[in-house]
Amino acid sequence: MRSNALLVAAGLPGLAPALSQAADRTPAFDWDSITPSRDLGYHDCYGGFRCARLVLPLDWQNATADDRTVALAVIKLPAVVPASDPSFAGPILTNPGGPGGSGVAFIQSFGRRLRRIADKPGRRHYDIVSFDPRGVANSWPRADCFPGDLLTRDAVMLEARGHGALDSGKLSVPHALGLFAGFGRRCLEAEAHGLNGGDIMGYMSTPSVARDMVEMIDKIEELRGRESESRGHRPELKRRSGDADDDDLVRLQYIGFSYGTILGNYFASMFPGRVGRIVLDGVSNASDYSTGPGWLTNLVDADEIASDFFSGCHAAGPSVCALARSADSSGADIRARFDAWLNAIDESPLVSVTPAGNIVVVSSRDVRGLMGSAMYSPIQQFTRLADILNATMAGNATALVAVMDTAGSVPHLKDACTVAGNATDAERNVDRAEGGFSVLCADGDSLADKDAAWWRRYVEKQVQTSSLMGAYWSTIRLSCSAWPFRTNWSFKGPFTTPEARVTSRGTPVTGRPAAPLLFLSNRLDPVTPLAAARAMAALHPGAGLVVQESLGHCAVATADSSCTAHIVADYIESGVVPAGEATCSTDCGPWDEGCSLSGMSRPLFPLGLR
Ligand SMILES: *[C@@H]1O[C@H](CO)[C@@H](O)[C@H](O)[C@H]1NC(C)=O
Ligand SMILES: *[C@@H]1O[C@H](CO)[C@@H](O)[C@H](O)[C@H]1NC(C)=O
Ligand SMILES: *[C@@H]1O[C@H](CO)[C@@H](O)[C@H](O)[C@H]1NC(C)=O
Ligand SMILES: *[C@@H]1O[C@H](CO)[C@@H](O)[C@H](O)[C@H]1NC(C)=O
Ligand SMILES: *[C@@H]1O[C@H](CO)[C@@H](O)[C@H](O)[C@H]1NC(C)=O
Ligand SMILES: *[C@@H]1O[C@H](CO)[C@@H](O)[C@H](O)[C@H]1NC(C)=O
Repeated sequence: MRSNALLVAAGLPGLAPALSQAADRTPAFDWDSITPSRDLGYHDCYGGFRCARLVLPLDWQNATADDRTVALAVIKLPAVVPASDPSFAGPILTNPGGPGGSGVAFIQSFGRRLRRIADKPGRRHYDIVSFDPRGVANSWPRADCFPGDLLTRDAVMLEARGHGALDSGKLSVPHALGLFAGFGRRCLEAEAHGLNGGDIMGYMSTPSVARDMVEMIDKIEELRGRESESRGHRPELKRRSGDADDDDLVRLQYIGFSYGTILGNYFASMFPGRVGRIVLDGVSNASDYSTGPGWLTNLVDADEIASDFFSGCHAAGPSVCALARSADSSGADIRARFDAWLNAIDESPLVSVTPAGNIVVVSSRDVRGLMGSAMYSPIQQFTRLADILNATMAGNATALVAVMDTAGSVPHLKDACTVAGNATDAERNVDRAEGGFSVLCADGDSLADKDAAWWRRYVEKQVQTSSLMGAYWSTIRLSCSAWPFRTNWSFKGPFTTPEARVTSRGTPVTGRPAAPLLFLSNRLDPVTPLAAARAMAALHPGAGLVVQESLGHCAVATADSSCTAHIVADYIESGVVPAGEATCSTDCGPWDEGCSLSGMSRPLFPLGLR
């Protein structure tokens, strides 16, 4: 799996629980075998899934005059019962985060777990539906600034590795600004030449994606009507749009993770009358995301999770945690050894040569990146992180570099030369950072006029919030420093909804959500802190909040908790949220023997993701 050149040069995902490695291990599917259509029509794909390509307007703001379109890649994990079964309860849409994350890849790793959590056996069964947002992965046109040119993409990544972390010296910020300026130019050229399918990068803001979702649920309902008619039933179709007092519109059932909580928040705030059920897990601050310098409030709990790693390691002891020593009196002893070593490695770097022959100079940034990515999913990664750090601290970086290599945080240069011309299937699996930039730069305020001094202060602020992840996190917004596309459709809030209400007949009321929103948060999340979940929940009248007593990014993505699962399933069925703040314990923790995540065909957060 290849990586997002700049964004993830440090080896960390953004606001994305998804999983780039999925595509490598799944059966290939040729999306070109499906003819894009204005009506939803599913085809078998990826063994047990159904895929469709849905044609929608490129520019929702001007859809009547402008006939340019996009073809969204839509994927469905079918319910365990047929749609004719009385327990069939419709689709739940999901978004894996990013921005720029592929729903097609996500559902293949996570769909079955999600379906199991939402379903009530014999009573409620759902289709799990996701999509590659416009411009992303298998959707077309595609945000791709280096079409057919992986070698240059890799060269940019190598340069980004070379300039070091953004807090590593006076020159790293201006160098990064230069790289992003060049990146932006390549993006303009790519669209001008059309190898990526043409105009798209100026039309990927979150309001457009939310509007796409409105259309998707209408199209799904239309398809249900056609199918039930073909079974000889007279369809009871919900109306697509209606009179002022129409309270029978198709409504969204949705679970969004990470950036998917931003998307869900936009959807609810822009289209409250289309809200059926909305679950937001791993909550991001939509105000900080959409206004001001941006992305400054994510990391408030990150360093505390790092402390928990060391204290948990000590408590688990040397038989479980490779970094622990019997002479230690607390986690602070382990941390002191680690810090002393980390502070020294940039002066005498570890060097490794990968099996493919790449030279990798391991820096403190790489080690921080590894730790940061492990903190996304402690249950799956903490013991392995300890093993790798223990070996690396003893001078053997083989395991660390192997992780970086697999995750694509060092480029696979040899492969880059073999992909040329039109996008091949292999190239489709490239994680393109520009898919994320196109969204986050359009949604946020413009930062085009900021100079290097301003950016250094920005980096400093991030590092003050988290010494572990701040420098990496700064690259996300720095990607907008020379982003050449401005959107025609942005939304800056208010991020709120009218109070949910139903009529005496139990039907939803026009213009209002059918139920309040349900927010989920881990007690400690490295990039979407509980404070953000509380702040966002407070803006939506009647919203519920579940605090899961665990570490990691997103609650249901990182630990098993029957308590959380029940609340989610009950909410989707009945629309009822817990009063006040509910707390849920988890079945086991990162240092417990045999602790894992059930129902996952593969880890959601491969270590050193990307
Ligand atoms: C709408 O699309 C038409 C046809 O492409 C174009 O001429 C016009 O400028 C567009 N209007 C806006 C507001 O983008
Ligand atoms: C959310 O972001 C806004 C705008 O940046 C900020 O004023 C507010 O304090 C943030 N809330 C939290 C809980 O971080
Ligand atoms: C951790 O490193 C120490 C010293 O380098 C080594 O003796 C020990 O075997 C390692 N522990 C594990 C579990 O690999
Ligand atoms: C370094 O670690 C790898 C496993 O990650 C192992 O195969 C190799 O033998 C080690 N090298 C040395 C010199 O100990
Ligand atoms: C890419 O595909 C298109 C349409 O199939 C074709 O016209 C074009 O020549 C191809 N470009 C390259 C570089 O192969
Ligand atoms: C959208 O873009 C067109 C030109 O492309 C411009 O005329 C129009 O005012 C823009 N609309 C908004 C809301 O910015």
